[in-house]
Amino acid sequence: MAIRTVGVVGAGAMGAGVAQIALQGGLDVVLNDLSAEALAKAREGILGRLQRLAEKGQLDAEVLATADARLTTVVELAGLANCDLVVEAIVEAIEPKQALFAALEAVVGPDAILATNTSSLSVARIGARCARKGRVCGLHFFNPVPVMKLVEVVGTPDTSDGTLESATALMVLLGKTPVSVPDWPGFLVNLGGRAYVTEALHVLQEGVADVETVDRIMREAVGFRMGPFELMDLTGIDVNFPASTGIWAGFQNDPRIATTVRHQGLFNAGRFGRKTGQGFHAYGEAAVAGPEPRPADDGTSSLDAFLPESARLERLADFGLRPSESRSGVTVISLLGEDVTTACVRLGLDPQRTVAIDDTGLDRRFATLMTAPGANTALETVRTWLEARGFAVATVADSVGFVAPRLVAMIANLGCEMAQIGVASPADIDMGLKLGLNYPKGPLEFGTWMGPLRVFALLEGLQAITGSDRYRPSLWLRRRALLGLPLHTV
Ligand SMILES: NC(=O)c1ccc[n+]([C@@H]2O[C@H](COP(=O)([O-])OP(=O)(O)OC[C@H]3O[C@@H](n4cnc5c(N)ncnc54)[C@H](O)[C@@H]3O)[C@@H](O)[C@H]2O)c1
Repeated sequence: MAIRTVGVVGAGAMGAGVAQIALQGGLDVVLNDLSAEALAKAREGILGRLQRLAEKGQLDAEVLATADARLTTVVELAGLANCDLVVEAIVEAIEPKQALFAALEAVVGPDAILATNTSSLSVARIGARCARKGRVCGLHFFNPVPVMKLVEVVGTPDTSDGTLESATALMVLLGKTPVSVPDWPGFLVNLGGRAYVTEALHVLQEGVADVETVDRIMREAVGFRMGPFELMDLTGIDVNFPASTGIWAGFQNDPRIATTVRHQGLFNAGRFGRKTGQGFHAYGEAAVAGPEPRPADDGTSSLDAFLPESARLERLADFGLRPSESRSGVTVISLLGEDVTTACVRLGLDPQRTVAIDDTGLDRRFATLMTAPGANTALETVRTWLEARGFAVATVADSVGFVAPRLVAMIANLGCEMAQIGVASPADIDMGLKLGLNYPKGPLEFGTWMGPLRVFALLEGLQAITGSDRYRPSLWLRRRALLGLPLHTV
């Protein structure tokens, strides 16, 4: 079905964005809100942004010239009667959305499509009071709508193929990248995004590293634009805590996506992140100065390296980290699927003189060091030695998988599980998280980068040592890792 007139209900940030892109695409738009004031503000904002786009040469003069006439604003729902497709972007609550969908059905023509922009509610429940459920779908846009390319096109078991085809074709016409997803909690992006933030929260809860250290490792060693705690503070803990618990409950309390009590504690205290000045980090006046710079190496320390796998020894040697005569008596080890404690007991090493090094980020001259409880002197020796050789160093307490490999493995595992249960294809899962959350790599690409067998071994080690099913490997990952197949193999 060709869509010429788009209706938008709710003239807030999202609704105004949807109206804008439809106008940019040359379509007629009817924008509805209960508040005439909200409509006036949205109209001014939309036309102003279109004007600026035209000035920058990013919008055709003809499209701009007709935009004012093509945008109708109405406080009465009846004004949406001629729309071919209506996007709902009102408050995120089930009752008003259900009532609106039932009321819309009485207004629009029999073939009009009704789409919701909900992030966290079931599309089927929103359309539950509609007589023609085949026309109901989700069009989940990301904020800011004119900038973010991705749109999740959500189909319920009742959504007709024609509805999905028309909605998808419209998104392509409007310059978006649609991805087709089922009506499950978190759809693709918000579900896939659970691993990064909740595993960071588990690392924090275990006392492996503090908030600053985790954020720094994920930015500097892995290349995320924002660390997981910075990201949660930006989106707002009032948004991501309920989203986390809602998605976890929707997946029948799967421990792989469970959050922690610290997250809940901030939510309860109203420390929502940037918007309240305090969250995981402090902002504005509440912020404190960073740590003092560290003193330089006096040149007296040296190390011997004990590496159980020769390949990994060679990798460290690539970065100039060669074993040398021991004067300090410290042993540096590389680990996979074990914490330092377990490795020392297994190999008969002195835990007070053993330091594990994570090679993630060494090519960026960033190293993470980890020791068993009590090995502070050895840790300082290795840290000083590395810093003198130009490495930025983070130190963490004993953990299976340090911080970076652990978070990367959990991201990859959740991406594999999403492929296994049919949320989307491996390529769409990767694309969704790169476009929707600005990840430097998609989950399955992260798994490929780390190596499927290494991801699998790390998760098995985490599961065995922590005793938690949070770390159980996805069958998708297990089969491809054991068969030596690429993770994208379908
Ligand atoms: N903000 C985001 O980042 C984001 C991202 C994706 C999806 N969403 C979803 O989009 C929807 C809107 O979000 P927003 O941030 O634009 O909200 P907002 O609060 O900025 O705007 C909501 C608008 O809807 C109007 N409204 C409320 N009830 C109405 C009704 N019954 N009929 C007509 N208008 C009504 C309000 O007056 C307000 O202008 C929510 O469902 C939200 O979950 C938001």
